[in-house]
Amino acid sequence: MTKIGIETGAEVPGSSLAAAGKTFLEFFAGIGLVRVGLEPSGWSCVYANDLDPKKRKLYAGRFGDDDQFHLGDVWDREQVLARLSTPAFLSTASFPCVDLSLAGKWKGLDGAHSSAFFGFTNVLEGLGERKPSLVLIENVTGFVASRDGQDFESATRSLAELGYWLDAFVLDAAHFIPQSRPRVFIVGVHDRLGEPPMARRGSGGGWLVDPWVQRIERAGKSIRPSRLVELMKRIKLPTGWAAFRMPLPDGPRRDIAELIDLDDAQDWWDEPAVVKHHDMMSDLHRRHVDGLLAAGGTHVGTIYRRKRYGKTRAETRFDGIAGCLRTPKGGSGRQIVVVVDRGRLRMRWMSPREYARLQGVDNFPLGENTIQNLYGFGDAVCAPVISWIDAHILTPVYEWAREGAENHPGRPRPLRSLLPREPAEDAAPFARELETPKIREMG
Ligand SMILES: C[S@@+](CC[C@H](N)C(=O)[O-])C[C@H]1O[C@@H](n2cnc3c(N)ncnc32)[C@H](O)[C@@H]1O
Repeated sequence: MTKIGIETGAEVPGSSLAAAGKTFLEFFAGIGLVRVGLEPSGWSCVYANDLDPKKRKLYAGRFGDDDQFHLGDVWDREQVLARLSTPAFLSTASFPCVDLSLAGKWKGLDGAHSSAFFGFTNVLEGLGERKPSLVLIENVTGFVASRDGQDFESATRSLAELGYWLDAFVLDAAHFIPQSRPRVFIVGVHDRLGEPPMARRGSGGGWLVDPWVQRIERAGKSIRPSRLVELMKRIKLPTGWAAFRMPLPDGPRRDIAELIDLDDAQDWWDEPAVVKHHDMMSDLHRRHVDGLLAAGGTHVGTIYRRKRYGKTRAETRFDGIAGCLRTPKGGSGRQIVVVVDRGRLRMRWMSPREYARLQGVDNFPLGENTIQNLYGFGDAVCAPVISWIDAHILTPVYEWAREGAENHPGRPRPLRSLLPREPAEDAAPFARELETPKIREMG
């Protein structure tokens, strides 16, 4: 069969869109919540990789024990490449975050765990012409801050050196689910795709303000925080920066009370444990809880235990969202449910089912071991966030490329006719008014 390369029309074995279809590779697959987020729109996983057999078991519980899952170290490049026989359009990589946080002592991308990112780029390099047209990277927001931006710079450079144009943004799971979980995402679009519907830096030219600058500066600060924008402006990439339209997600999010089980069948703590945690609260938090007890009604909140100035504190929140799920290392990694129920104070560990709900996968099949379930969900991505990125970026780029490959094999598609024309939803109203039609067209 002749395989037509999207960008050139030349024969490029294995890299053609026709051969790839709407397929993806799932690196650092964990329990597979990237896959959960992508499958509803028709993405098909052709390869998943992770080195943790316990995560693999949970993955298999959800997706079946198929041979797409490669249990192995991403650094074993030859092993990985040998398994990557099917070309894919997209590759995802939610690489380990531990070294990009205080917990990992900010070792950054030199750390034993987070350096696996370069194992991933090493595989991409090994794929040569067969490397996916799109990549999606996910990590904690500490990735942007780590070592004063140097880690973000070396990661984005290494992707750009492989031919990807990059966009970066932050999305918080709290837009979709009652969990505070901001994460930074990088989308890479391979240069060979031509000009998908995104603004490339420097594409304005002449007297026009660069549409890329406009787009990243006008986006909501929660999506494109100043520190990230600063870095994107400062870092010079061998390809360049791009910017997709990023409306602020405005979908309804549920209140934590809807996801927490209140019935007596739960493992509620006995009174001494509740009193102990009530005593561990700061005066401010205890006064708040006591106020809710006096007020009556039912109030659902969460607690994390944290060391503050040498003392362990029970930090409560009753703002309708849970704290960020973590892996349950020590007593501080595990989230506690606190309920003020008509004058009665109740507490217990948050259950694996509730963890699943807070990652947007209410019915995910649980494993037998509670701690392994909590590890799996605590380390995972929030599936609705991935679906949102898919709906706004991944699938539109895929559809754009597919249409181009079908209608104009070998010709990059004209940019302007393909761009959505409605004003950016994330732009401040005054900025929208100032947009000239020309700029709006450019996105
Ligand atoms: C942040 S978690 C990814 C979670 C996943 N996206 C999910 O939704 O469950 C990072 C994963 O990388 C895996 N990992 C760490 N180092 C690795 C390596 N060298 N090779 C392959 N996988 C690795 C860990 O086992 C962990 O599951």
